[in-house]
Amino acid sequence: MSVCEFKPGLEGIPAAQSSISFVNGQEGILEYRGIRIEDLAENSTFLETAYLLIWGKLPTKDELIEFEHEVRYHRRIKYRIRDMMKSFPESGHPMDALQASAAALGLFYSRRDLDNPVYIRDAVVRLLATIPTMVAAFQLMRKGNDPVRPRDDLDYSANFLYMLSEREPDPLMARIFDVCLTLHAEHTMNASTFSARVTASTLTDPYAVVASAVGTLGGPLHGGANEEVIGMLEEIGSVENVRPYLEDRLQRKAKIMGFGHRVYKVKDPRATILQKLAEQLFEKFGYDKYYDIAVELEHAIAEKLGQKGIYPNVDFYSGLVYRKMGIPTDLFTPVFAIARVAGWLAHWKEQIAENRIFRPTQVYTGHHDVSYTPVEQR
Ligand code: COA
Repeated sequence: MSVCEFKPGLEGIPAAQSSISFVNGQEGILEYRGIRIEDLAENSTFLETAYLLIWGKLPTKDELIEFEHEVRYHRRIKYRIRDMMKSFPESGHPMDALQASAAALGLFYSRRDLDNPVYIRDAVVRLLATIPTMVAAFQLMRKGNDPVRPRDDLDYSANFLYMLSEREPDPLMARIFDVCLTLHAEHTMNASTFSARVTASTLTDPYAVVASAVGTLGGPLHGGANEEVIGMLEEIGSVENVRPYLEDRLQRKAKIMGFGHRVYKVKDPRATILQKLAEQLFEKFGYDKYYDIAVELEHAIAEKLGQKGIYPNVDFYSGLVYRKMGIPTDLFTPVFAIARVAGWLAHWKEQIAENRIFRPTQVYTGHHDVSYTPVEQR
């Protein structure tokens, strides 16, 4: 392909060689290191999956115990980071708070000893362990409360839900949350992962890598979509209003949040799993009328846009699941980030193992040989 063949959004252009995950968008297949997402959702845990993504193989029992132990005992954040977070405006978006806090870790640990496996392991453990603590701490502090100390007797997901609400979560809820993290842990060369790899390719520290990826994840065309799904379901308000709402949106050529994907042209396999998890939650903890609206919207869009390959993506049902867990809407994307840190770190490790700095080209569309006009003549 000639370098001048410009593809907006780099659509279809490989940006890296990677053995971390695989998507078949026509058949709706997602694999992490060759293992189907359905298999991992059913049988693995988020931390085990993170290990798989980052180190390329499932851990042995002893390796898993050691890894879980290390993550468990690195959950606390430095008081100086907590103090810094206290000065953030309460009205600020939690994704911005997370980006700033993740970047601040680099102030304490940025030795950039990238050839040292111990440095890599420490950074992986610290980021996986502290990102949930930072998300929960900002949530409590913006309400004027002190952050809750992590509980070492609770596993990864139960501890996060505990830190958010100061109540030990129901085991089914904690397990479902853990599956949600597994589903969001990695997804090939999406925008935030690309951003992580570009930053990694400069050989900067992993905290800068994660901070830049968090910034990229925050946009409404990426991780921010699940927040907007809830707003949309509230706006629709009733099952009867689904089709008129859809007609109106389509006439105005507006996108329907939680639908469509650059790669999947069928229903995202993660959406299928999330829908089942939503049903389990509603069965145990009570029905949610927005679920009926969501299902009706899915049917209506399949009729209208199915031929274009527009089906629910991962963000469509995840918001309903998080809402039922009592997670505030503007924490949905930070929760996505908690999960995706695993994928970003896997890509960081893969990028630096065989690095070449990203330096693409551009198609210049400006002028040449323009002479400078002094300000008084303009
Ligand atoms: N609602 C309505 N129409 C949609 C749509 C949606 N959510 N997503 C795509 N389309 C339509 C486009 O209008 C376009 O139609 P056209 O060919 O008649 O102009 C066609 O499908 C192709 O869309 P395009 O935006 O070029 O696809 P993309 O691959 O660039 O976009 C997304 C992928 C995810 C950015 C896009 O589907 C979207 O914006 N979805 C909503 C946001 C969202 O849920 N994001 C989370 C992604 S996991």
